[in-house]
Amino acid sequence: MKDTYGREINYLRLSITDLCNLRCQYCMPSNGIQKIAHAAILTLEELDEIALAFARLGITKVRITGGEPLARKGIITLIEKISRHESITDLALTTNGTLLNTMAQDLKNAGLKRVNISVDSLDDKKYNMMTRGGKLKEVLKGIEKAKEVGLTPIKLNVVLIGGFNDNEIESFVSLTQDEAIDVRFIELMPIGEVAKWSQSNFLPNDYVLETVPTLVKMEKVDPSSPALYYQLPGAKGRVGLISPVSCKFCHTCNRVRLTSEGKLKHCLHSNEEFDLKEVLRQGNSITDFIQYVMLQKPLEHTIEEGSFIARNMIQVGG
Ligand code: 5AD
Ligand code: SF4
Repeated sequence: MKDTYGREINYLRLSITDLCNLRCQYCMPSNGIQKIAHAAILTLEELDEIALAFARLGITKVRITGGEPLARKGIITLIEKISRHESITDLALTTNGTLLNTMAQDLKNAGLKRVNISVDSLDDKKYNMMTRGGKLKEVLKGIEKAKEVGLTPIKLNVVLIGGFNDNEIESFVSLTQDEAIDVRFIELMPIGEVAKWSQSNFLPNDYVLETVPTLVKMEKVDPSSPALYYQLPGAKGRVGLISPVSCKFCHTCNRVRLTSEGKLKHCLHSNEEFDLKEVLRQGNSITDFIQYVMLQKPLEHTIEEGSFIARNMIQVGG
């Protein structure tokens, strides 16, 4: 499936809940978000029907997101269903890791291939503060379990925040020395809550390279991956830099997003949303609708000009 600019769209990010068991400061306001009525959320059957339609249109990679996807009831059943579609060769999930210790084995058995785990600090207290209550120990246990059951290769997502974790860059990078994991630094994007944050919180990813000058750039293997990869000499793992702000990667964008309420988003940074759930529930062709929406996909975002979306990240799934 191609868009008007000739980009092949083969990656679906499926948000299955807007709820989370954490409340990260950059992801949602302190008083939480308004809960969506249960009936407005796509059912497991609907999610699977949508995944199948996308698979038939050429989507080969599906990532389950949230909120926190492991907090959704029926997640194991959903993974079982989606993993049956053979053309979806890469089925992954992004999680905060807190529930992984208990769920990793079931996820693996259900057909999940791998997990990305978000962890923004390696210090108990700082982690607890940024997540408004999360326990780092649970996440670390979850990471170990994911390794043990083979939900690999494991990627750790670290949102780089000036004045918060910029003094932990070396600790994060050193995790890649002896283990085959990827640590990926993501530039903080001015979405939702973060639009109000101080300029000092935003750091370009070049700061990682200045802090660890021994990192060596690797050749790009996957052209549609937003991450540029680096490695410490002799390391088993990699360090990824995802720089949506300082170095946008829109020209190789291959993705489309669906919110848990069934709104199709052709671009993370666009306020334009298309009601796929409505089309589905009225019994109309979602295939035609998806193709129509893909043709509206904009060439690039304009966050550098100050146009931010109104939603909080928890409602989009990153
Ligand atoms: N900027 C950058 N990354 C963000 N994430 C959530 N909000 C933001 C933001 N404003 C990250 C989460 C998770 C991924 C899905 O997106 O930490 O790793
Ligand atoms: Fe939950 Fe992830 Fe948002 Fe944190 S960033 S509140 S873990 S969805």
